[in-house]
Amino acid sequence: MTISQPMKGILLAGGSGTRLHPMTLASSKQMLPVYDKPMIYYPLSTLMLAGIRDIMVISTPLDLPQFQRLLGDGSQYGVSFSYREQPSPDGIAQAFVIAEDWINNAPCALILGDNLIFADHLSQILQKSAQQEHGATVFAYQVRDPERYGVVSFAPDGTAVDIVEKPPIPHSNWAVTGLYFYDARVSEFARRLRPSPRGELEITDLNKIYLQEHSLRVEPLGRGCAWLDAGMPDSLMQAGTFVQTIQSRQGMLVGSPAEVAFRMGYINAQQLRHWAGRMIKTELGRTLHAIADGQQGLCIAP
Ligand code: TTP
Repeated sequence: MTISQPMKGILLAGGSGTRLHPMTLASSKQMLPVYDKPMIYYPLSTLMLAGIRDIMVISTPLDLPQFQRLLGDGSQYGVSFSYREQPSPDGIAQAFVIAEDWINNAPCALILGDNLIFADHLSQILQKSAQQEHGATVFAYQVRDPERYGVVSFAPDGTAVDIVEKPPIPHSNWAVTGLYFYDARVSEFARRLRPSPRGELEITDLNKIYLQEHSLRVEPLGRGCAWLDAGMPDSLMQAGTFVQTIQSRQGMLVGSPAEVAFRMGYINAQQLRHWAGRMIKTELGRTLHAIADGQQGLCIAP
């Protein structure tokens, strides 16, 4: 009997960010602020909430050192970070080829570095997906502009029947979000892909391999959930306002890897206090301190 390995996670933070020029002419998109934190903190927190502790950050050769400076080796969060370059933006699915030896036949999740997901009971939903041993899980969310995304159509019984990448005339308004969970075959499947007409290894083509063998689960995210991608000036602004509104109204943090690490039991109160001390002049640092002292926020069971 083979013993399954724990799921690993890829945080994909490359790309060219052309829709955010000139902000991204000299800086990585995923390093831009979303209210009080760098954008990459949000998808990182999501992976950590899924229970994933072995994480690889993939970015451009130019930007990767910045992420290493920001995130280090992960020990401050009780997790492990590895880093690898994507020489040019040749598609999201290329990540599984680039990281193949590191994935080493483990199941692997991927999240896009500009995706923010916020929902009640998110950690339970994510942990369930991370524990599936066969097939893949993706999430679908209703949007007004599905033509910008991979669009999924459902049969009347709710099973996914097709996914089309950026269709000019979408068959539904259900977009596939930038968070994907795959079984241990993912690198093998990614190696079979050929570049699309736009020259990319498409994540939609990878998902279609699972769809064709009836092992793709598409979980709809309802209206109580927010999925934002911060890739354009308006959506970047909306994401920041969203985080500010929740944090200032509830006094709870959105997208703090340090808080997630504490709540998941990856670090203890003393370690969280130490980390909070590094940013104690900020509201974020003070909130983390209060969380370490047990004074703030619900103690959610992860
Ligand atoms: P996109 O938003 O599709 O592309 P982009 O970031 O290059 O931005 P723009 O369209 O404005 O030029 O990418 C989605 C996410 O995936 C984003 O976080 C960047 C990342 N990405 C990579 O890291 N490598 C890639 O090869 C591609 C295509 C995307």
